[in-house]
Amino acid sequence: MSASASDLNASGTPPGRRQILVTSALPYANGQIHIGHLVEYIQTDIWVRALRMHGHEVYYVGADDTHGTPIMLKAEQEGVTPKQLIDRVWQEHTRDFKNFGISFDNYYTTDSEENRVLSESIYVALRDAGLIDAREIEQAYDPVKEMFLPDRFIKGECPKCGAKDQYGDSCEVCGSTYSPTDLINPYSVVSGATPVRRKSTHYFFRLSDPRCEAFLRDWVGGLAQPEATNKMREWLGASGDAKLADWDISRDAPYFGFEIPDAPGKYFYVWLDAPVGYYASFRNLCAQRGIDFDAWIRKGSTAEQYHFIGKDILYFHTLFWPAMLEFSGHRTPTNVFAHGFLTVDGAKMSKSRGTFITANSYIEAGMNPEWLRYYFAAKLNGTMEDIDLNLDDFQARVNSDLVGKYVNIASRAAGFLIKRFDGRVQDSALHHPLLGTLRAALPQIAAHYEARDYGRALRQTMELADAVNSYVDTAKPWDQAKDPANAVALHETCSVSLEAFRLLSLALKPVLPQVAQAAEAFLGIEPLVWADAERPLSSSRPVNAYKHLMTRVDPKQIDALLEANRSSLQATPAAQTGATSKATEAPGKAIANGKNGANGKEEEAPIISIDDFAKIDLRIARIVDCKAVEGSDKLLQLTLDVGEEKTRNVFSGIKSAYQPEQLVGKLTVMVANLAPRKMKFGLSEGMVLAASAADEKAEPGIYVLEPNSGAKPGMRVK
Ligand code: 2FM
Ligand code: ZN
Repeated sequence: MSASASDLNASGTPPGRRQILVTSALPYANGQIHIGHLVEYIQTDIWVRALRMHGHEVYYVGADDTHGTPIMLKAEQEGVTPKQLIDRVWQEHTRDFKNFGISFDNYYTTDSEENRVLSESIYVALRDAGLIDAREIEQAYDPVKEMFLPDRFIKGECPKCGAKDQYGDSCEVCGSTYSPTDLINPYSVVSGATPVRRKSTHYFFRLSDPRCEAFLRDWVGGLAQPEATNKMREWLGASGDAKLADWDISRDAPYFGFEIPDAPGKYFYVWLDAPVGYYASFRNLCAQRGIDFDAWIRKGSTAEQYHFIGKDILYFHTLFWPAMLEFSGHRTPTNVFAHGFLTVDGAKMSKSRGTFITANSYIEAGMNPEWLRYYFAAKLNGTMEDIDLNLDDFQARVNSDLVGKYVNIASRAAGFLIKRFDGRVQDSALHHPLLGTLRAALPQIAAHYEARDYGRALRQTMELADAVNSYVDTAKPWDQAKDPANAVALHETCSVSLEAFRLLSLALKPVLPQVAQAAEAFLGIEPLVWADAERPLSSSRPVNAYKHLMTRVDPKQIDALLEANRSSLQATPAAQTGATSKATEAPGKAIANGKNGANGKEEEAPIISIDDFAKIDLRIARIVDCKAVEGSDKLLQLTLDVGEEKTRNVFSGIKSAYQPEQLVGKLTVMVANLAPRKMKFGLSEGMVLAASAADEKAEPGIYVLEPNSGAKPGMRVK
């Protein structure tokens, strides 16, 4: 499973120069990058940069994870196509990664031709190896939306405590876990309809096959993290236990994804084509740069392959993905590195406290991305432990370490060297024992980076910075400068300081690429690599004018950042009228985009065009009859005159607000061109409009819309 540094690989790369493919998990294309994501991208990027500085051939690829039901529905809610949605999000993600210095060689999309071809070929290879089964299964189905419902799209009352609006897997109120079929009064989050059970054929990857189990038992031995190994052994169970369950890799239409080659109407589950997206991104890069893709990914390749992920998706990366690769003729991952979750000030990131901080809001608050890179790096140690962003500590550490200890070394020495010594170092000073200590430490620091123990790398670097500052404090260049007789000593102090600064910049370069680049420009040197530890500054190349390398964190910026993330959740002005018009065809449940804002108001729906609005045929209707529905505590059955030959029958979830007789004879507004919907109690042929508060519990009441007198049944409302 491991490839050693000295392998001579197939493409004839010289010994010692490794070929390394690195990935970070692919973010979903329906949300913004936030600081929780950034832990991983920053962690990976530091590793990649540290390895590139050895001169290895390293490629870091990523992509947006674009398929699946949530993305399909989100696009629908926004009134755009999935393609339009994922294109927009790709732009945003690319911007955020660039801002934080994430040095992807390629950032691609899983919705690509490369990914379709690779996913299909892996599937076909698994099928031909006898590892795919077709089976009929029963699942929750939304009869209105006419789609199968993932568990996250079913809500209802908790079977244990009765709390309303709980997800199908666990109750946020009492914490109990259960399956969606246990929910009381379940409803589809998409349409509000009551889900029904429906059968369909699904395709399964036979992870329970003895070949998979045997392979995984062997593969687990190479995992770098003991926590990951333990988890995997737990999943595998004792030998002969056959604990691994087959994996359902298909989904029924409608689904945004790739259709399965031999199964029309069936699509690859998003998690099948997502990791293949790593290879698709790499293949796309290979085509751009003339790299031999097959040599890197075929079985037996001596190239290395590493996946950085969050601990929540270990299962996919240490069971499914390696097995998929193994049995489709590919090399398997050299290692998978999982990290923990991020908390902010000791708690889960929270929208109401403003700690659900998006990458873009951080940049817009004028904060330096390298502060965050440094802080995360200082906390990362290569284990799966969670890490905490303590905002006071963040400010103190950045200001003290980066500005107080590191940058100050350069700013204190630069002025004297430029003014008094023409910007040229004293070559003989560069043999100072302090510099020897720094040079000897650099290979150790590089090794800590490679071991992903960035905290250790930075602690050691800051100890060295402390030693350099003590040296400067003892030499007192500001005193030396007062007496021309001390010129040689002053020259030595400044030279040692700047060479030390160069070495510290080298140590910090994987974490602070921008600062390192500015330091290189100031020192007039080529981009630093690890081998430069032994290539000191030279009097033949004077340093350039010093420009300040980093400002201090201002607490006001942090306050503004938290405020920005709090306020971004306020309802938009149009939604602040207290109540929004709401359809009540469905039995009284929220429509998909009816999420409440932080202030309890319903968020405004996305902008639509006048053409979109014109698609809705709103008509004046007279309620000619109204009765309770036997067996339903929510519905009333309305008979509506819409100026047509025949009346219409509509079920409406307004029983809690009206006695049937109160409504008879009244005029209202209905959606006349809504697709008829078969309900348990009969056919519903439209929907009447009513208003209610976003939080119906806090502010109960449903108000059926009534037009001014003079309106006649059948008139169009526009
Ligand atoms: O959990 C997630 O956010 C997934 N989008 C990660 C996919 S990683 C890889 F397998 F593509
Ligand atoms: Zn409960």
